[in-house]
Amino acid sequence: LTVRASSYADELVKTAKTIASPGRGILAMDESNATCGKRLASIGLENTEANRQAYRTLLVTAPGLGQYISGAILFEETLYQSTVDGKKIVDVLIEQNIVPGIKVDKGLVPLAGSNDESWCQGLDGLASRSAAYYQQGARFAKWRTVVSIPNGPSALAVKEAAWGLARYAAISQDNGLVPIVEPEILLDGEHNIDRNFEVAQKVWAEVFFYLSENNVTFEGILLKPSMQVADYTLKLLRKRIPPSVPGIMFLSGGQSEVEATLNLNAMNQAPNPWHVSFSYARALQNTCLKTWGGLPENVAAAQEALLIRAKANSLAQLGKYTG
Ligand code: 13P
Repeated sequence: LTVRASSYADELVKTAKTIASPGRGILAMDESNATCGKRLASIGLENTEANRQAYRTLLVTAPGLGQYISGAILFEETLYQSTVDGKKIVDVLIEQNIVPGIKVDKGLVPLAGSNDESWCQGLDGLASRSAAYYQQGARFAKWRTVVSIPNGPSALAVKEAAWGLARYAAISQDNGLVPIVEPEILLDGEHNIDRNFEVAQKVWAEVFFYLSENNVTFEGILLKPSMQVADYTLKLLRKRIPPSVPGIMFLSGGQSEVEATLNLNAMNQAPNPWHVSFSYARALQNTCLKTWGGLPENVAAAQEALLIRAKANSLAQLGKYTG
């Protein structure tokens, strides 16, 4: 039995390598309209399309951003959006040497038959959506599913999460998009770090089992785990993640900006088999958003704040951040 390789095989490997290039990482700016609304409310702005556009224009036009940022994850609205000056956001990113990405999952819903756990929707119509996103300029994708420790996890929930990620990854690659594989193990609950380690090992084992079963090219994926303690996280990744995976892009998950940078820097003190980098939303954007405050006269200062965090994380990717 032979399986047809994705016609995008070479391109996928190249895209993944570009995103995982030394001293660079991902700017996650794929907040849904609801989440973006919460961010805007924190600076007293209404959740209108114009305000979302103004904020996203500020982010993507920060001068020289591409020196530190290799990819930007967008919400669907932004993939089709223009800047306030009428330039396509995707084109601005490409000019900055930043690869545009797209969040493709449709969110979590209750998983019937489980212990109040959830599963991630979005496989229906994913192939045609992915083809359209590629046409629009996207070259990578994100799908976030979660595994909850306090509620189990049940064998069913782990299997569903892993299988869903694997189907999404195969469909993405078939349409030229590098899939970011993200099984987020929720940190809330009373359990200790050993229990977390045990669950994470099980989850990653199943994820890679189903990725292989779905003929996913490991050289053409990226991973997005949550980080706990640097040495614990690395120990776990070494046990379960094949070295052919080009990049591991951590989310910031509510850590402070500096904490997220320090933790990334700690993980890059010794050589790793993969590029260990960032895919931060809050840890890149928090100060930037506050500095902007919705006022046009603050745009330059806000962009400077974004560049400061981007540069700090770029240094941390190289293990050279000194504070
Ligand atoms: P945080 O860094 O805020 O956890 O978000 C990560 C992310 O990738 C959202 O897409």
